Amino acid sequence: MQITYYGHSCFKIVSPKGKKILIDPWVSNPLAPTQVDLGPYDFILITHAHGDHLGEVVKLARTNITEVIAIHEIQQYLLKSGVPKTTGMNIGGSYKVEELTFIMVPAWHSSSLPDGSYGGEACGFVITLENGLTLYHTGDTGLFYDMKLIGELYQPKIVFLPIGSHYVMGPKEAAKACDLIRPEIVIPMHYKTFPLLTGTVEDFKEELSKYSFIPQVLILKPGETFNF
Ligand code: NI
Ligand code: MN
Repeated sequence: MQITYYGHSCFKIVSPKGKKILIDPWVSNPLAPTQVDLGPYDFILITHAHGDHLGEVVKLARTNITEVIAIHEIQQYLLKSGVPKTTGMNIGGSYKVEELTFIMVPAWHSSSLPDGSYGGEACGFVITLENGLTLYHTGDTGLFYDMKLIGELYQPKIVFLPIGSHYVMGPKEAAKACDLIRPEIVIPMHYKTFPLLTGTVEDFKEELSKYSFIPQVLILKPGETFNF
């Protein structure tokens, strides 16, 4: 399994059987490396409708006919935008496809489409790969206690967690989120992209050190790949 970070909340995942997944495809974000894999992907996941998460989804999914998985309201928007292959879901649901399982889970955040209309609820994704390995990308969110429930129920080994603050959790909240979810590995995201995102990896590690349960903090530089 491979995880590649493209900056902000954008990750490429290659499953054990070679399925390619892109999450929150803002591949032109200010931190994005010069070399970004633009596809074809098997699946693109969208956590919510804000521009820094929808990113270049329409272009990417039309060019290579990629299946885009998102909440119903975003799916409807994508259909109208000419994306040929979409799957709408809603919170609490699971979608099994080609030995992968995508589960849509809650996030505490707003979600509006580029035209300002309602983009459905913001969400996160729990992804189970062919070998049973489970990942949890929280999307943009504040801290919420039900993260404990998500941790207990799905036992994600790797969690992608925002730490930038201002629009999302900051280091203090993200450390508590780790205590609730109990992953083996946490990968910080949604930080450093703009000056308003003030949360840092150093502060996150310091906040984590206050807990008895401390996951491995995996810092991926944009463009960097982690092999698991
Ligand atoms: Ni957002
Ligand atoms: Mn965001």
